[in-house]
Amino acid sequence: MEKLALLGGKKAVTKEAAEQMFHWPIVNDAMRKSVVQVLDDGNMSGLDLSKKFEQEFAKWHGVKYGLAHSCGTAALHAAMYGVGLGIGDELICPSITYWASCTAALSLGASIVFADIEPDSLCLDPDDFERKITKRTKAVVVVHYLSHPADMDRIMAIAKKHNIKVIEDCSHCHGALYKGKITGSIGDVAGFSCMSGKAFAIGEAGMMITNDRLIYERAILFAHYERHGDIQDEELKKQAFLPSGGFKYRMHQMSSAVGLEQLKKYNAEAAEIDKIFTYFWDSLEGTPGVYAHRPAKNSGSTKGGWYIPAGLYESEELGGLSIQRFCDALTAEGMPRVAAGVNAPLHKHALYNTVDVYHHGRPTNSANLPKGVENREDKKELPVSSSLSQRIFQVPYMKHFDKELIDQYVAAIKKVCAGYADLLEGDVSAEVKASWNLTRRKG
Ligand SMILES: Cc1ncc(COP(=O)(O)O)c(C=O)c1O
Repeated sequence: MEKLALLGGKKAVTKEAAEQMFHWPIVNDAMRKSVVQVLDDGNMSGLDLSKKFEQEFAKWHGVKYGLAHSCGTAALHAAMYGVGLGIGDELICPSITYWASCTAALSLGASIVFADIEPDSLCLDPDDFERKITKRTKAVVVVHYLSHPADMDRIMAIAKKHNIKVIEDCSHCHGALYKGKITGSIGDVAGFSCMSGKAFAIGEAGMMITNDRLIYERAILFAHYERHGDIQDEELKKQAFLPSGGFKYRMHQMSSAVGLEQLKKYNAEAAEIDKIFTYFWDSLEGTPGVYAHRPAKNSGSTKGGWYIPAGLYESEELGGLSIQRFCDALTAEGMPRVAAGVNAPLHKHALYNTVDVYHHGRPTNSANLPKGVENREDKKELPVSSSLSQRIFQVPYMKHFDKELIDQYVAAIKKVCAGYADLLEGDVSAEVKASWNLTRRKG
Protein backbone atom coordinates (compact mmCIF):
# COMPACT_ATOMS: atom_id res chain seq x y z
CA MET A 1 0.00 0.00 0.00
CA GLU A 2 1.21 3.47 -0.87
CA LYS A 3 2.56 5.56 1.98
CA LEU A 4 0.29 8.44 2.95
CA ALA A 5 1.59 11.93 2.24
CA LEU A 6 0.95 12.96 5.85
CA LEU A 7 3.44 10.27 6.87
CA GLY A 8 6.07 11.24 4.31
CA GLY A 9 4.73 9.53 1.15
CA LYS A 10 4.09 11.06 -2.26
CA LYS A 11 1.01 13.23 -2.83
CA ALA A 12 -1.93 11.69 -4.66
CA VAL A 13 -2.82 15.04 -6.21
CA THR A 14 -0.19 16.27 -8.63
CA LYS A 15 -2.38 18.40 -10.84
CA GLU A 16 -2.75 22.06 -10.03
CA ALA A 17 -6.36 23.24 -10.28
CA ALA A 18 -6.88 25.88 -12.97
CA GLU A 19 -7.07 29.39 -11.62
CA GLN A 20 -10.76 29.65 -12.49
CA MET A 21 -11.71 26.32 -10.91
CA PHE A 22 -12.98 27.85 -7.67
CA HIS A 23 -13.63 31.38 -8.85
CA TRP A 24 -17.24 32.43 -8.33
CA PRO A 25 -19.46 33.83 -9.62
CA ILE A 26 -18.58 33.58 -13.28
CA VAL A 27 -18.87 37.15 -14.51
CA ASN A 28 -19.51 37.74 -18.20
CA ASP A 29 -19.50 40.87 -20.30
CA ALA A 30 -23.26 41.22 -20.17
CA MET A 31 -23.09 41.42 -16.36
CA ARG A 32 -20.30 43.98 -16.47
CA LYS A 33 -22.21 46.09 -18.97
CA SER A 34 -25.42 45.94 -16.99
CA VAL A 35 -23.70 47.24 -13.85
CA VAL A 36 -22.05 50.10 -15.71
CA GLN A 37 -25.44 50.93 -17.19
CA VAL A 38 -26.94 51.30 -13.71
CA LEU A 39 -24.08 53.59 -12.72
CA ASP A 40 -24.33 55.67 -15.89
CA ASP A 41 -28.11 55.97 -15.57
CA GLY A 42 -27.86 57.22 -11.96
CA ASN A 43 -30.32 54.49 -11.11
CA MET A 44 -28.79 52.70 -8.13
CA SER A 45 -31.78 53.14 -5.84
CA GLY A 46 -34.41 52.74 -8.54
CA LEU A 47 -36.96 49.96 -8.72
CA ASP A 48 -37.46 49.20 -12.41
CA LEU A 49 -34.66 46.63 -12.73
CA SER A 50 -35.46 45.13 -9.35
CA LYS A 51 -39.11 44.68 -10.32
CA LYS A 52 -38.07 43.03 -13.56
CA PHE A 53 -35.66 40.76 -11.72
CA GLU A 54 -38.36 39.82 -9.18
CA GLN A 55 -40.74 38.85 -11.96
CA GLU A 56 -38.16 36.71 -13.73
CA PHE A 57 -37.05 35.07 -10.49
CA ALA A 58 -40.65 34.31 -9.51
CA LYS A 59 -41.34 32.95 -12.99
CA TRP A 60 -38.35 30.61 -12.70
CA HIS A 61 -40.04 29.19 -9.60
CA GLY A 62 -43.53 29.17 -11.05
CA VAL A 63 -44.62 31.49 -8.25
CA LYS A 64 -46.72 34.66 -8.49
CA TYR A 65 -44.79 37.24 -6.48
CA GLY A 66 -41.15 38.11 -5.93
CA LEU A 67 -39.82 40.83 -3.68
CA ALA A 68 -36.17 41.85 -3.99
CA HIS A 69 -34.25 42.52 -0.77
CA SER A 70 -30.87 43.86 0.24
CA CYS A 71 -29.80 40.45 1.53
CA GLY A 72 -31.17 37.03 2.47
CA THR A 73 -31.44 38.01 6.13
CA ALA A 74 -33.79 40.84 5.13
CA ALA A 75 -35.84 38.59 2.83
CA LEU A 76 -36.34 36.10 5.67
CA HIS A 77 -37.17 38.86 8.17
CA ALA A 78 -39.83 40.19 5.81
CA ALA A 79 -41.13 36.66 5.21
CA MET A 80 -41.51 36.16 8.98
CA TYR A 81 -43.47 39.37 9.26
CA GLY A 82 -45.35 38.37 6.13
CA VAL A 83 -46.71 35.19 7.73
CA GLY A 84 -47.78 37.18 10.77
CA LEU A 85 -45.14 36.14 13.28
CA GLY A 86 -45.38 38.40 16.32
CA ILE A 87 -45.35 38.72 20.09
CA GLY A 88 -45.55 35.40 21.95
CA ASP A 89 -45.46 33.23 18.83
CA GLU A 90 -42.99 30.42 18.40
CA LEU A 91 -40.92 29.77 15.29
CA ILE A 92 -39.46 26.30 14.85
CA CYS A 93 -36.10 26.08 13.07
CA PRO A 94 -33.45 23.40 12.64
CA SER A 95 -30.46 23.92 14.92
CA ILE A 96 -28.01 23.37 12.07
CA THR A 97 -28.22 26.40 9.83
CA TYR A 98 -26.86 29.90 9.50
CA TRP A 99 -28.25 32.22 12.20
CA ALA A 100 -30.25 34.31 9.71
CA SER A 101 -32.72 31.47 9.14
CA CYS A 102 -34.43 32.39 12.40
CA THR A 103 -32.79 35.12 14.47
CA ALA A 104 -34.77 38.11 13.15
CA ALA A 105 -37.81 36.50 14.81
CA LEU A 106 -36.52 37.93 18.09
CA SER A 107 -37.09 41.45 16.79
CA LEU A 108 -40.74 40.53 16.14
CA GLY A 109 -41.22 39.43 19.72
CA ALA A 110 -41.35 35.74 18.86
CA SER A 111 -39.43 32.86 20.42
CA ILE A 112 -37.21 30.49 18.49
CA VAL A 113 -37.55 26.79 19.18
CA PHE A 114 -34.93 24.51 17.71
CA ALA A 115 -35.52 21.06 16.29
CA ASP A 116 -33.08 18.37 15.25
CA ILE A 117 -32.07 17.41 11.72
CA GLU A 118 -32.12 14.10 9.88
CA PRO A 119 -28.77 12.28 9.82
CA ASP A 120 -28.71 11.84 6.03
CA SER A 121 -30.34 14.89 4.48
CA LEU A 122 -29.16 17.18 7.34
CA CYS A 123 -32.47 19.00 7.01
CA LEU A 124 -35.29 19.45 9.53
CA ASP A 125 -36.37 16.12 11.03
CA PRO A 126 -40.17 15.99 10.50
CA ASP A 127 -40.70 13.89 13.65
CA ASP A 128 -38.79 16.31 15.81
CA PHE A 129 -40.58 19.23 14.16
CA GLU A 130 -43.88 17.71 15.20
CA ARG A 131 -42.61 17.04 18.74
CA LYS A 132 -41.61 20.68 19.15
CA ILE A 133 -45.05 22.08 18.18
CA THR A 134 -47.01 23.86 20.92
CA LYS A 135 -50.21 25.88 20.75
CA ARG A 136 -48.00 28.95 20.28
CA THR A 137 -46.23 27.65 17.15
CA LYS A 138 -46.97 30.01 14.29
CA ALA A 139 -44.36 29.09 11.69
CA VAL A 140 -41.53 26.76 10.79
CA VAL A 141 -38.39 27.56 8.82
CA VAL A 142 -37.28 24.74 6.56
CA VAL A 143 -33.69 25.02 5.43
CA HIS A 144 -32.70 22.98 2.39
CA TYR A 145 -29.31 22.59 3.96
CA LEU A 146 -26.19 22.52 1.79
CA SER A 147 -28.50 22.24 -1.21
CA HIS A 148 -30.23 19.07 -0.04
CA PRO A 149 -34.03 19.35 -0.26
CA ALA A 150 -35.86 18.74 3.01
CA ASP A 151 -38.66 16.16 3.33
CA MET A 152 -41.33 18.61 2.19
CA ASP A 153 -44.18 16.10 1.82
CA ARG A 154 -44.07 15.23 5.50
CA ILE A 155 -43.28 18.74 6.68
CA MET A 156 -46.15 20.27 4.70
CA ALA A 157 -48.58 17.63 5.96
CA ILE A 158 -47.61 18.25 9.60
CA ALA A 159 -47.76 22.02 9.12
CA LYS A 160 -51.20 21.79 7.55
CA LYS A 161 -52.49 19.60 10.37
CA HIS A 162 -51.37 22.16 12.98
CA ASN A 163 -52.10 25.29 10.95
CA ILE A 164 -48.46 26.36 10.82
CA LYS A 165 -46.95 28.56 8.11
CA VAL A 166 -43.95 27.15 6.24
CA ILE A 167 -41.05 29.45 5.38
CA GLU A 168 -38.50 27.83 3.08
CA ASP A 169 -34.96 29.12 3.52
CA CYS A 170 -33.54 28.53 0.05
CA SER A 171 -30.22 30.25 0.60
CA HIS A 172 -28.34 27.01 -0.11
CA CYS A 173 -30.48 25.45 -2.79
CA HIS A 174 -31.01 27.69 -5.81
CA GLY A 175 -32.59 25.57 -8.50
CA ALA A 176 -32.65 22.36 -6.44
CA LEU A 177 -35.64 20.08 -7.02
CA TYR A 178 -37.73 18.22 -4.48
CA LYS A 179 -39.43 15.30 -6.23
CA GLY A 180 -39.37 17.28 -9.46
CA LYS A 181 -40.67 20.50 -7.93
CA ILE A 182 -38.37 23.47 -7.54
CA THR A 183 -37.53 24.31 -3.93
CA GLY A 184 -38.95 27.64 -2.82
CA SER A 185 -42.28 26.96 -4.50
CA ILE A 186 -43.61 24.45 -1.96
CA GLY A 187 -44.06 26.31 1.34
CA ASP A 188 -46.08 29.46 2.02
CA VAL A 189 -43.13 31.74 1.33
CA ALA A 190 -39.42 31.40 0.61
CA GLY A 191 -36.35 33.52 1.27
CA PHE A 192 -33.06 33.29 -0.64
CA SER A 193 -29.64 34.66 0.04
CA CYS A 194 -27.88 35.66 -3.17
CA MET A 195 -24.65 36.92 -1.58
CA SER A 196 -21.41 36.30 -3.36
CA GLY A 197 -20.59 32.90 -1.89
CA LYS A 198 -23.92 31.34 -2.79
CA ALA A 199 -24.68 29.25 -5.88
CA PHE A 200 -26.84 32.04 -7.31
CA ALA A 201 -24.48 34.88 -6.47
CA ILE A 202 -25.21 38.46 -7.45
CA GLY A 203 -23.60 40.54 -4.70
CA GLU A 204 -25.27 41.32 -1.41
CA ALA A 205 -28.86 40.51 -2.29
CA GLY A 206 -31.86 38.46 -1.21
CA MET A 207 -35.18 37.42 -2.71
CA MET A 208 -38.55 36.57 -1.19
CA ILE A 209 -41.13 34.69 -3.25
CA THR A 210 -44.69 33.62 -2.50
CA ASN A 211 -48.03 32.79 -4.08
CA ASP A 212 -49.86 34.42 -1.18
CA ARG A 213 -50.88 38.01 -1.91
CA LEU A 214 -51.32 38.85 1.77
CA ILE A 215 -47.83 37.63 2.70
CA TYR A 216 -46.45 39.63 -0.22
CA GLU A 217 -48.28 42.79 0.80
CA ARG A 218 -47.35 42.44 4.47
CA ALA A 219 -43.68 42.13 3.42
CA ILE A 220 -44.04 45.27 1.30
CA LEU A 221 -45.63 47.05 4.25
CA PHE A 222 -42.80 45.97 6.52
CA ALA A 223 -39.79 47.15 4.59
CA HIS A 224 -40.54 48.57 1.12
CA TYR A 225 -42.24 51.92 1.73
CA GLU A 226 -41.78 53.15 -1.84
CA ARG A 227 -44.04 50.37 -3.03
CA HIS A 228 -46.87 50.91 -0.57
CA GLY A 229 -48.98 52.15 -3.47
CA ASP A 230 -49.15 48.50 -4.67
CA ILE A 231 -50.93 47.37 -1.51
CA GLN A 232 -54.55 46.34 -2.17
CA ASP A 233 -55.60 44.95 1.20
CA GLU A 234 -57.89 47.51 2.84
CA GLU A 235 -56.57 46.92 6.37
CA LEU A 236 -52.91 47.15 5.32
CA LYS A 237 -53.62 50.28 3.30
CA LYS A 238 -54.44 52.10 6.53
CA GLN A 239 -50.83 51.62 7.66
CA ALA A 240 -49.26 52.39 4.29
CA PHE A 241 -46.53 54.88 3.31
CA LEU A 242 -44.43 54.40 6.41
CA PRO A 243 -42.77 51.01 6.90
CA SER A 244 -44.30 49.01 9.73
CA GLY A 245 -41.36 47.98 11.83
CA GLY A 246 -39.24 50.76 10.40
CA PHE A 247 -37.11 48.77 7.96
CA LYS A 248 -35.92 49.57 4.46
CA TYR A 249 -34.83 46.48 2.60
CA ARG A 250 -34.85 47.24 -1.12
CA MET A 251 -32.26 45.58 -3.36
CA HIS A 252 -29.45 47.61 -4.87
CA GLN A 253 -30.12 47.88 -8.58
CA MET A 254 -26.58 46.81 -9.44
CA SER A 255 -27.43 43.44 -7.91
CA SER A 256 -30.75 43.35 -9.74
CA ALA A 257 -28.96 44.03 -13.03
CA VAL A 258 -26.46 41.24 -12.35
CA GLY A 259 -29.33 38.99 -11.26
CA LEU A 260 -31.15 39.43 -14.55
CA GLU A 261 -28.03 38.33 -16.42
CA GLN A 262 -27.27 35.51 -13.97
CA LEU A 263 -30.75 34.08 -14.55
CA LYS A 264 -29.88 33.58 -18.22
CA LYS A 265 -26.89 31.36 -17.50
CA TYR A 266 -27.44 29.88 -14.04
CA ASN A 267 -29.06 26.65 -15.13
CA ALA A 268 -26.18 25.83 -17.47
CA GLU A 269 -23.62 26.55 -14.74
CA ALA A 270 -25.55 24.51 -12.18
CA ALA A 271 -25.76 21.63 -14.67
CA GLU A 272 -21.97 21.63 -15.00
CA ILE A 273 -21.56 21.62 -11.22
CA ASP A 274 -24.07 18.78 -10.98
CA LYS A 275 -22.07 16.80 -13.54
CA ILE A 276 -18.87 17.36 -11.52
CA PHE A 277 -20.27 16.16 -8.22
CA THR A 278 -22.32 13.35 -9.63
CA TYR A 279 -19.13 11.97 -11.20
CA PHE A 280 -17.09 12.71 -8.04
CA TRP A 281 -19.42 10.92 -5.65
CA ASP A 282 -20.23 8.11 -8.06
CA SER A 283 -16.49 7.43 -8.24
CA LEU A 284 -16.35 7.16 -4.45
CA GLU A 285 -19.32 4.82 -4.17
CA GLY A 286 -18.38 1.85 -1.98
CA THR A 287 -15.40 3.53 -0.32
CA PRO A 288 -15.66 2.77 3.40
CA GLY A 289 -16.02 5.75 5.73
CA VAL A 290 -17.28 8.30 3.20
CA TYR A 291 -20.75 8.92 1.83
CA ALA A 292 -22.14 11.58 -0.46
CA HIS A 293 -24.53 14.15 0.96
CA ARG A 294 -27.06 14.04 -1.86
CA PRO A 295 -30.63 12.90 -2.49
CA ALA A 296 -31.24 9.34 -3.66
CA LYS A 297 -30.87 8.79 -7.38
CA ASN A 298 -34.13 8.63 -9.34
CA SER A 299 -36.00 10.36 -6.51
CA GLY A 300 -36.62 13.40 -8.69
CA SER A 301 -34.73 15.45 -6.08
CA THR A 302 -31.51 17.25 -6.99
CA LYS A 303 -28.98 19.58 -5.42
CA GLY A 304 -29.15 22.52 -7.85
CA GLY A 305 -25.86 24.39 -7.56
CA TRP A 306 -24.48 22.08 -4.83
CA TYR A 307 -23.77 24.99 -2.47
CA ILE A 308 -21.02 23.60 -0.23
CA PRO A 309 -20.50 20.05 -1.43
CA ALA A 310 -19.88 17.89 1.60
CA GLY A 311 -19.24 14.28 2.48
CA LEU A 312 -20.60 12.38 5.43
CA TYR A 313 -17.92 10.64 7.45
CA GLU A 314 -18.35 7.43 9.40
CA SER A 315 -15.31 7.20 11.61
CA GLU A 316 -16.21 3.72 12.97
CA GLU A 317 -15.66 2.32 9.50
CA LEU A 318 -12.10 3.66 9.63
CA GLY A 319 -11.11 2.35 13.06
CA GLY A 320 -12.39 5.45 14.86
CA LEU A 321 -10.06 7.81 12.98
CA SER A 322 -10.99 11.38 13.87
CA ILE A 323 -12.43 13.53 11.12
CA GLN A 324 -9.79 16.19 11.73
CA ARG A 325 -6.96 13.71 11.17
CA PHE A 326 -8.79 12.41 8.09
CA CYS A 327 -9.04 15.95 6.68
CA ASP A 328 -5.41 16.72 7.54
CA ALA A 329 -4.42 13.60 5.61
CA LEU A 330 -6.45 14.73 2.58
CA THR A 331 -4.86 18.17 2.71
CA ALA A 332 -1.42 16.56 2.88
CA GLU A 333 -2.30 14.53 -0.22
CA GLY A 334 -2.70 17.85 -2.06
CA MET A 335 -6.48 18.19 -1.99
CA PRO A 336 -7.33 21.86 -1.44
CA ARG A 337 -10.17 23.41 0.54
CA VAL A 338 -10.97 20.41 2.68
CA ALA A 339 -12.45 21.24 6.08
CA ALA A 340 -14.10 19.29 8.86
CA GLY A 341 -17.43 20.54 10.18
CA VAL A 342 -20.01 23.05 9.05
CA ASN A 343 -22.32 25.33 11.05
CA ALA A 344 -22.27 25.03 14.83
CA PRO A 345 -25.60 24.00 16.42
CA LEU A 346 -27.46 27.20 17.16
CA HIS A 347 -29.42 25.87 20.13
CA LYS A 348 -26.24 25.94 22.22
CA HIS A 349 -25.59 29.64 21.70
CA ALA A 350 -26.29 32.07 24.55
CA LEU A 351 -28.33 34.34 22.25
CA TYR A 352 -31.20 31.84 22.24
CA ASN A 353 -30.91 31.06 25.93
CA THR A 354 -29.73 33.69 28.34
CA VAL A 355 -29.07 36.94 26.48
CA ASP A 356 -31.42 39.83 27.19
CA VAL A 357 -31.11 41.72 23.89
CA TYR A 358 -33.89 44.24 24.40
CA HIS A 359 -33.70 44.85 28.16
CA HIS A 360 -36.82 42.86 28.96
CA GLY A 361 -35.40 41.83 32.28
CA ARG A 362 -35.47 38.21 31.11
CA PRO A 363 -33.85 36.38 28.19
CA THR A 364 -35.17 37.75 24.92
CA ASN A 365 -35.95 34.32 23.49
CA SER A 366 -38.39 33.77 26.36
CA ALA A 367 -39.45 37.39 26.85
CA ASN A 368 -42.98 37.11 25.49
CA LEU A 369 -43.80 33.60 26.57
CA PRO A 370 -46.33 33.10 29.36
CA LYS A 371 -45.04 33.54 32.88
CA GLY A 372 -43.20 30.43 34.05
CA VAL A 373 -42.41 29.25 30.52
CA GLU A 374 -38.74 29.61 29.79
CA ASN A 375 -36.87 28.49 26.68
CA ARG A 376 -33.60 26.85 27.55
CA GLU A 377 -32.74 25.57 24.13
CA ASP A 378 -29.24 24.61 25.28
CA LYS A 379 -30.70 22.02 27.65
CA LYS A 380 -32.29 20.15 24.76
CA GLU A 381 -30.98 16.91 23.39
CA LEU A 382 -30.60 17.37 19.65
CA PRO A 383 -28.13 14.54 19.07
CA VAL A 384 -27.78 14.73 15.31
CA SER A 385 -27.18 18.49 15.33
CA SER A 386 -24.79 18.31 18.28
CA SER A 387 -22.55 15.67 16.72
CA LEU A 388 -22.65 16.82 13.10
CA SER A 389 -19.26 18.51 13.02
CA GLN A 390 -17.63 15.15 13.81
CA ARG A 391 -19.25 13.55 10.77
CA ILE A 392 -19.18 16.03 7.92
CA PHE A 393 -16.35 17.33 5.76
CA GLN A 394 -16.32 19.91 3.00
CA VAL A 395 -14.72 19.05 -0.33
CA PRO A 396 -13.42 21.49 -2.98
CA TYR A 397 -16.31 23.36 -4.57
CA MET A 398 -15.27 22.88 -8.21
CA LYS A 399 -17.04 24.92 -10.86
CA HIS A 400 -15.66 23.34 -14.05
CA PHE A 401 -15.57 19.71 -15.07
CA ASP A 402 -11.94 18.53 -15.18
CA LYS A 403 -11.95 14.73 -15.18
CA GLU A 404 -8.25 14.35 -14.46
CA LEU A 405 -8.44 16.66 -11.45
CA ILE A 406 -11.55 15.00 -10.09
CA ASP A 407 -9.95 11.58 -10.53
CA GLN A 408 -6.96 12.74 -8.50
CA TYR A 409 -9.16 14.08 -5.69
CA VAL A 410 -11.05 10.80 -5.68
CA ALA A 411 -7.75 8.90 -5.60
CA ALA A 412 -6.64 10.98 -2.60
CA ILE A 413 -9.77 10.10 -0.64
CA LYS A 414 -9.51 6.42 -1.55
CA LYS A 415 -5.84 6.36 -0.58
CA VAL A 416 -6.51 7.90 2.86
CA CYS A 417 -9.46 5.58 3.47
CA ALA A 418 -7.37 2.54 2.51
CA GLY A 419 -4.45 3.61 4.69
CA TYR A 420 -6.45 4.79 7.72
CA ALA A 421 -4.79 2.30 10.09
CA ASP A 422 -1.45 4.07 9.69
CA LEU A 423 -3.05 7.30 10.85
CA LEU A 424 -4.48 5.99 14.09
CA GLU A 425 -1.20 6.38 15.90
CA GLY A 426 -0.80 10.06 16.76
CA ASP A 427 -4.50 10.77 16.26
CA VAL A 428 -5.37 13.04 19.14
CA SER A 429 -9.04 13.10 18.12
CA ALA A 430 -9.25 16.86 18.41
CA GLU A 431 -12.79 18.16 18.77
CA VAL A 432 -13.84 19.94 15.57
CA LYS A 433 -14.74 23.54 16.24
CA ALA A 434 -17.70 24.26 14.00
CA SER A 435 -18.23 27.84 12.93
CA TRP A 436 -21.14 30.21 13.55
CA ASN A 437 -20.55 31.65 10.12
CA LEU A 438 -19.63 28.72 7.89
CA THR A 439 -16.45 30.36 6.72
CA ARG A 440 -14.79 28.37 3.98
CA ARG A 441 -11.15 27.46 3.98
CA LYS A 442 -9.48 29.12 1.00
CA GLY A 443 -6.05 27.49 0.61
C1 LIG B 1 -29.15 29.23 5.38
C2 LIG B 1 -28.94 30.71 5.26
N1 LIG B 1 -29.98 31.52 5.52
C3 LIG B 1 -29.88 32.84 5.42
C4 LIG B 1 -28.69 33.45 5.06
C5 LIG B 1 -28.60 34.94 5.07
O1 LIG B 1 -28.34 35.51 3.85
P1 LIG B 1 -27.51 36.85 3.67
O2 LIG B 1 -26.09 36.56 4.07
O3 LIG B 1 -27.65 37.15 2.22
O4 LIG B 1 -28.13 37.87 4.52
C6 LIG B 1 -27.60 32.64 4.74
C7 LIG B 1 -26.35 33.27 4.29
O5 LIG B 1 -25.31 33.24 4.49
C8 LIG B 1 -27.70 31.24 4.87
O6 LIG B 1 -26.68 30.43 4.63
